[in-house]
Amino acid sequence: MKPSSTPSPAARATPRPGRLVRVAAGVLLSALAATGGADEYTATDLERWQQAYGQVVKKGDELFHGGLASENTLQCAQCHPNAANTHPETYPKFQQQLGRVATLFEMINWCIENPLESAPLAADDPRMVALQAYITFERRGMPLAPGKH
Ligand code: HEC
Repeated sequence: MKPSSTPSPAARATPRPGRLVRVAAGVLLSALAATGGADEYTATDLERWQQAYGQVVKKGDELFHGGLASENTLQCAQCHPNAANTHPETYPKFQQQLGRVATLFEMINWCIENPLESAPLAADDPRMVALQAYITFERRGMPLAPGKH
């Protein structure tokens, strides 16, 4: 992708480190594509990945049903039995509570901060990943409907 502004003559003369990294990554990717190595996995890999996924969904299930520390002891499942009304398939969408278009992660944090009166989780906190995995798993098979209310 081209940067939107024209680089200064000095910038054009010396390749920037970012560009070198992109070139190196490109060379590596072409090498992988040539050998077909980028897409290959074995049945054992698949089993391991599915097992890891299943464990994260299970963890999310536990957190959703009281496993997440909550300042006022409320838990997700009290208001969202089996995550049925969490509608992950509709995200990102405009969320009235936040007054803007938000992701599922931000809406989960809204519930942690408001109904649960607790501290929000970082996007890459394993508990946040697990909650999203569980909610999405419960709604598997639903057609994607971003923006829907
Ligand atoms: C006291 C009730 C209550 C509790 C407990 C609660 N929520 Fe919510 N939740 C709400 C309300 C109210 C909304 C906003 C209305 C809406 O969008 O459905 C909401 C919305 C959501 C949404 C978006 C739903 C949608 O249709 O867009 C998600 C996802 C969600 N909550 C996840 C959670 C998770 C995860 C927890 C536990 C950490 C949790 N909630 C705990 C009341 C609660």
